[in-house]
Amino acid sequence: MSKRLTFICQNCGAAHGRWQGKCEGCGEWNTLSEEGADRPAGPGRKPGKGRLFALEPLAGAAQEAPRTGSGIGEFDRVTGGGFVRGSVLLLGGDPGIGKSTLLIQAAAALAGHRQHAVYISGEEAVAQVRLRAERLGLSQAPVQLAAETSVEDIIATLSEGKIPRLVVIDSIQTMWTDTVESAPGTVTQVRASAQALIRFAKKSGATIILVGHVTKDGQIAGPRVVEHMVDAVLSFEGEGSHQFRILRAVKNRFGPTDEIGVFEMTGTGLREVANPSELFLSERDLGQPGTAVFAGIEGTRPLLVEIQALVAPSSLGTPRRAVVGWDPSRLSMVLAVLEAHCGVRLGGHDVYLNVAGGLRINEPAADLAAAAALVSSLANAPLPADAVYFGEVSLSGAVRPVAQAAARVKEAAKLGFARAIVPEAARAEAGDGAIKLTDVASLAALVADIAARGKRAAAA
Ligand code: TYD
Ligand code: MG
Repeated sequence: MSKRLTFICQNCGAAHGRWQGKCEGCGEWNTLSEEGADRPAGPGRKPGKGRLFALEPLAGAAQEAPRTGSGIGEFDRVTGGGFVRGSVLLLGGDPGIGKSTLLIQAAAALAGHRQHAVYISGEEAVAQVRLRAERLGLSQAPVQLAAETSVEDIIATLSEGKIPRLVVIDSIQTMWTDTVESAPGTVTQVRASAQALIRFAKKSGATIILVGHVTKDGQIAGPRVVEHMVDAVLSFEGEGSHQFRILRAVKNRFGPTDEIGVFEMTGTGLREVANPSELFLSERDLGQPGTAVFAGIEGTRPLLVEIQALVAPSSLGTPRRAVVGWDPSRLSMVLAVLEAHCGVRLGGHDVYLNVAGGLRINEPAADLAAAAALVSSLANAPLPADAVYFGEVSLSGAVRPVAQAAARVKEAAKLGFARAIVPEAARAEAGDGAIKLTDVASLAALVADIAARGKRAAAA
């Protein structure tokens, strides 16, 4: 009997019986590659001969998952208070963003608390890892190192003696297991290797962090299939030109997914940034048209960030709309509301919107700040440098209340801002205290206010 072969899409993991140019699963071209079929799970069990197990009632003593702090506060904030025993995390990020640096620092911090930490590199030699640790001032940390890629060897080694508290696998794409016949880096290999490591984590109680590379379009390459298998998916983000790095939980079975950890890449490794607002506002262009400060919330933490807009006459038939750090469909909506309800004509203008510092905002509360920045740029009217903005804009042009107004206002006051432009309801919630609150009922009112500033500036 001939051996059965399957063609697996390297993008989405869909299996096909024959080769074809386009994957039917995800529509990508030229992503199918020939791989040996997976063996059926479980060692040769006959059907109908299952082991009996006891079912338990849902009601019962719930246990808080035992956790181990990583020793890095910003990391623990994202995981939800430390590593849960037996859990597996996937850390994704662009090459060179600092994944290895973060994890060797976490391993060293954990080892410093007398926890057994192991770092396995499939990409770099032990000497290279040592060199990095030396640069970080961690060469004396009791972390155990190895440069290995065979999953069987790794599990056999780790099972000997004391089970480590934390195992870092850098990266999952370099791992291979001899239970499947495909080449390392293929979906089948990555999935089988991850499965074996996850099984080891669950059995032994060790926490495993798998590093995963990210492709240009932001997907964790190959191991997208792994995302479903692990307990948490963290993504490490940042922009090449900026020193800020943001750690974000995309999925988290044991904690929140809206908290971010903020780091700064320095010459001697990653430094935690406990007060990110100061960092994101540090390079602000005061008094320039087109910039507004948004008082946001990331998880439980208020965060002030600058939103920059440029609205310029377009020479193109279809004007450009470009946005970095915010949802493009949200921008379209704000532009449509400005056109429909505020008499702002943008059809002949290119529009660029950028969230400073490489941060990515997901909150609708940023609508008001984005609109303020856009109108400020169009009217060439600088916004007051001591003001922050927050509020959601509805399709009718009304400014709607958002959550945690008091926390936003408090953060603005702490950073020396004197006023906040807010939805009506926020006034009652936050109360006039440290800073002056100006409420706006509709976007049209804000636009009129900014346009008047522009005229005054032009007349002066
Ligand atoms: P690295 O952790 O190797 O990235 P990844 O594992 O995500 O590919 O980090 C590589 C980059 O970080 C490299 O461009 C150099 C820079 N870096 C610093 O700026 N300071 C440091 O202390 C270290 C160790 C690296
Ligand atoms: Mg690396």
